[in-house]
Amino acid sequence: MVFRENITSSEEFCDYLYDLFKITNNDIRNIIGSFHSEMAKGLSGQKSSLKMLPSFTRRPSGTEKGKFLALDLGGTNLRILSVDLNGKRRARILAVSRFFLTKDIRHSTGKHFFDFIADCIKEFLENNNFDLSKKYELGFTFSFPVEQTDISTGKLIKWTKGYTAKGVEGKDVIMLLNEALKRKGFKYIRVTALVNDAVGTLVAKSYYESNCDMGVILGTGTNACYPEKLSRIEKFRGPGIGSEMIINMEWGNFNKLKLTSYDKELDKDSPNPGSQYLEKMVSGMYLGEVTRKLICELISRKFIFKDTLQSKIFSKKGSLQTHHIAHIVVDNSKNLEDIEKFLTEAGITNVTIKDKVILKKLCKIVSQRSAKIAAAAISAVITWIDPELHKEHTVGIDGSLYEKFPGYDDVMKGVFSELFRKKASKINLELTKDGSGKGAAIIASIVSTHN
Ligand code: GLC
Repeated sequence: MVFRENITSSEEFCDYLYDLFKITNNDIRNIIGSFHSEMAKGLSGQKSSLKMLPSFTRRPSGTEKGKFLALDLGGTNLRILSVDLNGKRRARILAVSRFFLTKDIRHSTGKHFFDFIADCIKEFLENNNFDLSKKYELGFTFSFPVEQTDISTGKLIKWTKGYTAKGVEGKDVIMLLNEALKRKGFKYIRVTALVNDAVGTLVAKSYYESNCDMGVILGTGTNACYPEKLSRIEKFRGPGIGSEMIINMEWGNFNKLKLTSYDKELDKDSPNPGSQYLEKMVSGMYLGEVTRKLICELISRKFIFKDTLQSKIFSKKGSLQTHHIAHIVVDNSKNLEDIEKFLTEAGITNVTIKDKVILKKLCKIVSQRSAKIAAAAISAVITWIDPELHKEHTVGIDGSLYEKFPGYDDVMKGVFSELFRKKASKINLELTKDGSGKGAAIIASIVSTHN
């Protein structure tokens, strides 16, 4: 073990960081154990970093049918979709539009925020020639922690992922959307379902494949859900639809992980200090920033980028994004030409090969920790459902981190192999694109059949 105060070279510093960010098999077992106790507490209504929120929906039968609208909000874009369900396990997107949510909108007031959404819905319907004299049912994927009291009512507990629009926390988001639609004079939209993106992903995947029992998001934020037996949801006493209910875990808030000083600093500078610790160590929104903090320390110790003018680029918060890191880790060329290209584009020239090697090491250290924690968290949920791994489990995963980060999936599978040996093949990770859009439409259809 290298001690921070004794470090005299970049090599020693990298070794020190490697140890600091390492997730050992023992750590993974501890994470799984703490996940199980936090899950139990969350389900019984005790204080827990895992909120374990009832979603008021179950998995679909595959026979859901009809055309529905979906509104998908939770990343940097807002998406509006029209989805056709054929009743035979196939969901088809008929039309989709993306609207960029500027910082101004994300940080504005609730009224402004929902008015913008209502305008986008109008634009979508007009552009796609919808008959505005008819009524449409809409499933709203709102990817934030929401305390639901039924399928179409739920209060935002707390904004995450850097959103701060005022006057929304503690309010029913469907009511806020309906009020905005009313202000704009729309009478043809009925918002019938409020859905989390992880829940949408599980529902969308299980519409196609009945043995899917977990939905995961690894993107800007991270979260997961799974179908829980009603009898195990001690805090829920209402009537259910069937014998299971999907639980939105809000695992991004899990707080039993060992934080480094870099994680603590990042948390302190975030708009939501003290919460979403797992998310801040795993998700795409933060990986770039954690890595940038490591780079800054190496620069300040004069271990890399010795030209101070050039190194200034890294002193700007947000200057390194997860997609940059993805490009850096994948460069296997002899002279790390891609890394050089990235640095040149960022205005950093005359870098040495050593600088590039170190940069790559740092990106790997941070991204591997993320993938290992994500795999530990998935293992915790699967062993909660099926402790001995008797069955096959399909995990539907959506999100750009999982989809686009090179080697992320392999690191996760490596964790499963270490933990479960031969039985690791029973866990199938499957990319589930558009889950949050299709899932909302499927849930809107479930609601429509029940009403
Ligand atoms: C954040 C939100 C959560 C969402 C996740 C992925 O963690 O709190 O609701 O599912 O991001 O988008």
